[in-house]
Amino acid sequence: MALSDEQLLVRRIRDGTVIDHIPAGRALTVLRILGITGSEGYKLAIVMNVESKKLGKKDIVKIEGLYLDKEQLDKIALIAPTATVNIVKDYRVVEKMKVRLPEDLSNILSCANPTCITRQPREPIKPRFKLVSRRPVLYQCVYCGTLIEEDDIVRQLGGSA
Ligand code: CTP
Ligand code: ZN
Repeated sequence: MALSDEQLLVRRIRDGTVIDHIPAGRALTVLRILGITGSEGYKLAIVMNVESKKLGKKDIVKIEGLYLDKEQLDKIALIAPTATVNIVKDYRVVEKMKVRLPEDLSNILSCANPTCITRQPREPIKPRFKLVSRRPVLYQCVYCGTLIEEDDIVRQLGGSA
């Protein structure tokens, strides 16, 4: 069996999480939304722009010793809706899951409409969005109806779309 680009670039991990099938170019944004800067001491690998059967090209992030919670998985879904999260124990994939876009999104994104009630400094109302479409990703502000699409979401979360 021929070694893939990925296998030539990085070895398999022992225990931790592999976030696979990230849209090409978004691995660094995934790390940013997980709050990982590199100085926490995790042993990690970032693989970018390697061949993928499903996506053409993809990114992969491998982190030894880190396991993600629900909120982190939701955030990953927002910028990498195609991602697969693999939990590795003793070199084996013991769990594989697709991330899933949350139906209801609180606090993570803000509304683009400057007159929206969630943007008024005197109003203690936190931004809230409902999922309108998974492909393409589309959310709608619960208060004013403004739509937010994938490119804007990626930009808000600190990536370049
Ligand atoms: N992986 C790893 N270290 C391990 C086990 C797996 O880094 N000890 C990585 C693989 O390199 C791959 C991902 O975790 O990027 C998923 O592994 P696996 O399920 O074995 O690969 P595929 O069958 O190709 O996955 P999929 O069907 O999700 O594409
Ligand atoms: Zn709004």
